Amino acid sequence: MSGNQRMGNLAVDNHVKYILSVEKRKDDFESVVMEHLRLNGVYWGLTTLDLLGKLDTVDADEVVTWIMKCQHESGGFGGNIGHDPHILYTISAVQVLALFNKLHVLDIEKVASYISALQNEDGSFSGDIWGEVDTRFSYIAICCLSILRRLDSINVEKAVNYIVSCKNVDGGFGCTPGGESHAGQIFCCVGALAITGALHHIDKDLLGWWLCERQVKNGGLNGRPEKLPDVCYSWWVLSSLIMIDRVHWIDKQKLGNFILDCQDTENGGISDRPDDAVDVYHTFFGVAGLSLLEFPGVKAIDPAYALPVDVVNRIFFGR
Ligand code: FPP
Ligand code: ZN
Repeated sequence: MSGNQRMGNLAVDNHVKYILSVEKRKDDFESVVMEHLRLNGVYWGLTTLDLLGKLDTVDADEVVTWIMKCQHESGGFGGNIGHDPHILYTISAVQVLALFNKLHVLDIEKVASYISALQNEDGSFSGDIWGEVDTRFSYIAICCLSILRRLDSINVEKAVNYIVSCKNVDGGFGCTPGGESHAGQIFCCVGALAITGALHHIDKDLLGWWLCERQVKNGGLNGRPEKLPDVCYSWWVLSSLIMIDRVHWIDKQKLGNFILDCQDTENGGISDRPDDAVDVYHTFFGVAGLSLLEFPGVKAIDPAYALPVDVVNRIFFGR
């Protein structure tokens, strides 16, 4: 962004070291707690490395082999080898394969049929065979199938109508019809509408107002009124504001400095708020937020696909 002179420094090398150390530490406390989130964690970590220009420090073949072992007969992916499949892990598998330019290893038909089978009669999506419905799953289905160029395998019109039925009078979106507006769900709904070319369903001024009100005094963003700011909302809110062309309604400089204040500059990693413990999730969303702020040295990320812009261009334009 222009005016970065007034922003602090990003401890790139230490963040890279931190991510690599977590990826390797398979049996310590954090990794055990994160065990069932493995595939999501790998997406957060590796996308961070790519945004920092360091994806080549990882053995792509090793990761791809492990990912393919997480796939089930049904076509869906589990969070780790032997875990049940869920759409939440399926998107991470597809995204990481896209990062490494390895989508060709997938049986695309199989993945597409797993996802399309999760669409319900009203256009909504369940996350797995147990049936929980959430607009997160609508986004994931649409994002994944778009990357695989198989949006034709679902009823897009119904999917869009369901998302629109989750819109609230404040301009935001919740996880089901009538559910409270929440910045994470807003990202999902705006992202899904952006990918399907249906952003006209959004009142951009109304939603933009709700989103920019998420910025608190210290520059950070929260996910709902009265909540504490949290680095991950730098992503959920900022990406949504960009997709509806209202990003100039927040103070980018202050947000950038809030994210930088959440770094552990000594040992690497980014936390939810200054002085809290770091984790890979907030490290990814902090770096992704800085990417959306055009912070120097961080690659551009696509606000709808949550993948580096060069990866998205390669998928859709073959370059
Ligand atoms: C807040 O979570 C975030 C959400 C509800 C959105 C989650 C979106 C996905 C899983 C879709 C895939 C996302 C990407 C980037 C590819 P939280 O549980 O931290 O909320 P809280 O702050 O209310 O605890
Ligand atoms: Zn958070």
